[in-house]
Formats: sequence, C-alpha cells, structure tokens
Amino acid sequence: MSNVYYPDYLQLERLLSSQELESDKLGQHAHDEMLFIIIHQAYELWFKQLLYEVGSVIEIFEDGQIDDNAGELNIAVHRMRRVNTIVDLLVKQLGILDTMTPLDFLDFRDMLRPASGFQSMQFKILEARLGLRMEDRFGKQYYTSQLHPEHKAQIEALENKTTLVELVNAWLERMPFLDPRYWPGKEQFFDRLGALYVGSLVKGEEQNAELWKEIFVTGGGKRKFSAKAARSGLFIMMYRDQPLFQQPFRFLDSLVELDNGMARWRARHVDMVHRMIGLRLGTGGSTGKGYLRGAMDHHYVFKELADLGSFLFERRKLPPLPAELRKAVGFAE
Ligand code: HEM
Repeated sequence: MSNVYYPDYLQLERLLSSQELESDKLGQHAHDEMLFIIIHQAYELWFKQLLYEVGSVIEIFEDGQIDDNAGELNIAVHRMRRVNTIVDLLVKQLGILDTMTPLDFLDFRDMLRPASGFQSMQFKILEARLGLRMEDRFGKQYYTSQLHPEHKAQIEALENKTTLVELVNAWLERMPFLDPRYWPGKEQFFDRLGALYVGSLVKGEEQNAELWKEIFVTGGGKRKFSAKAARSGLFIMMYRDQPLFQQPFRFLDSLVELDNGMARWRARHVDMVHRMIGLRLGTGGSTGKGYLRGAMDHHYVFKELADLGSFLFERRKLPPLPAELRKAVGFAE
C-alpha cells in the first residue's frame, strides 16, 4: 500500500508557492494583493470543478439515449445540484473581496494591466460549453481581443462543439409523450393545452396567444429550443408530479437555477466592480461596468426554459393523462 502523505497528495508546495505579488516584484508591497491573488485562484479552482461536473453531464447527454427512469438522469441531476451549490459559494465569496477598499486596490491596480478576469479561460469555456455562442454575446468585439493567440484559437474551436443546451434540446425532442399514438381518437393534446392556456389569459395578455404559437408551433428563428422540444419541456413542467417526469423536471429546473446563479454572480461582481473602479474602463479593454451589465442581461443560456413558466396554469385544470400513455410510461394503476 502506498504511503500517501497529505502535503504531497495535495501538492501543497506548488500550490502555496503560487502567490507572487507584482507589488513585491516592484518593491512596493501592497498588503491586499495577497487576498486579490488568492481569491482569484480559489475561483479558478472552483471553475475547474464546475467544468469537470458540467463536462460529465454533457457526456451523459452526448450518449443520445438516456433512460429517463434510470441512473443516468439521476446522476445528471445530482451533479447539477453540486454545480449550483458551487455557484452559490462563488456569489458569496465576493463578500471577502469587499473587505478590500478602492483605495487599497489602487495600491496595486495599475501594476496588473492589462490582466483581467476577462482573460479567464475557464470562465469563457464554461459559458461556451453551456451554450453561449459567439453570435449571441454582448460585446463580442472585445470578447477574445485580450487573449493570447493560442487561447483565442481554443475559444474559437469551441464554437464547433456541441453545447449542453443543444443536447438538452435534442433530448427533449426525443421524448415520445406527445406522440399521437398515445392520444388515439382525441383532438391533438397540445392544442387542448393551448386552448386552456389561451382561456386563462387576462385582459392585456391577449398577445400571449401569438407567443404560444411562436414557441410551440412555429419555432425556429434564433430560438435555442425547437417547437417540439419546447412542447416536451412544457409537458414535463405541467405533469412534473407524475413519477416519470420528476427527474426530468428537476434537471430542467437545475439548468434554470444555474442561469440564475450565474446572473447572481454577474450582478454581485458588477456591483463590486462599480464600487472598486467606479465608471473607469476595465483593465481587460471593455467599458467595464457597462459591458458587465450588458453581459448580465444577455448571457442567460436557458432563458427559454424559464420562459415556459408563462404558459402554466392551475394543476386542477390539467387534462388527465390518457391510460395508454400512463401504461407506456410505467405508472398505470
Ligand atoms: C477588484 C476586483 C475586481 C475588479 C475591479 C474587476 C473588474 C472587472 C472588469 C472591469 C471586467 C470587465 C472586463 C474588463 O476588464 O474590461 C471584469 C470581467 C470579469 N471578471 Fe472581474 N473584477 C474583479 C474581481 C474579480 C474576481 C474576484 C473574479 C473571479 C474570478 C473576476 C472574474 C471576472 C470574469 C470571469 C470576468 C469576465 C466576465 C464576462 O465576460 O462576463 N473578477 N472584471
């Protein structure tokens, strides 16, 4: 049996000697630079874990055939829970940096130019793997402008890789629950849901009937989810209390939660940036606060899943599932 030794196992010598203060190199020691380095390193470690977990979920969905009632989806749900717990921590962690005042930061800020969190490759890879495409980016003119050529090429190559949101779309499209074979002799089930939804609209919401058509019938355009996938997504949300749909619902909900968590991080970060540098330009070449606010508003990846919430109505009005379908999905009495 090998004799594992804690400092060696964790490579602490390397890890703990990786904090080199620029201010020390210039002979002008700035006390808070240590915190600044450690907090960024801690973030990068957590980004690594996030990529590891999200990567494993992507692998599960790349399979092309997930048994929704079996282990794989459970694993994906479980890992997404971990992802979201980490993102929560990332939001809270910014509070530590708030103990550094703008004046403390000025002691070393100029020594770091042009470095910026904007050059965090792991953050960019995470966004890209989830499904943020270059064309949808806010501020794409400077998105890769500050990267070294090899990093730029790496980010550009990601544009050809299948993203999590695309895989989730394909998974929802494969779901057979709305297949006419389960609804024999009935009017199209989804049309029935549509009629119930339109009936639930109040004065001033009439235009939502058009939105229903756009999302669930026409689809296409710049949407990440096809009409077919959106129909399955809504179906899962509506019938989420049925045993078969519980895990798919949890999974979809975890994606919306991840979007919200990332947005919370962005909001927290932009407020911190505002306090720290006011309206000055970012060291990474962006407009600073303006860019970060734009990114916060535009970089939701799973927004269309959250939008589905607009089309729900009261449980008691939901049509019961036909016996045929209940039998097929394994929860018939
Ligand atoms: C004194 C503290 C900080 C300041 C003043 C600051 C400032 C900024 C600014 C101005 C930007 C916009 C890009 C640019 O530089 O032009 C940015 C982007 C970014 N920062 Fe920070 N930041 C700080 C702390 C952090 C920390 C602790 C992290 C943790 C990893 C971080 C991660 C990022 C990331 C990932 C981006 C890119 C965001 C995106 O593209 O949406 N920053 N930061």
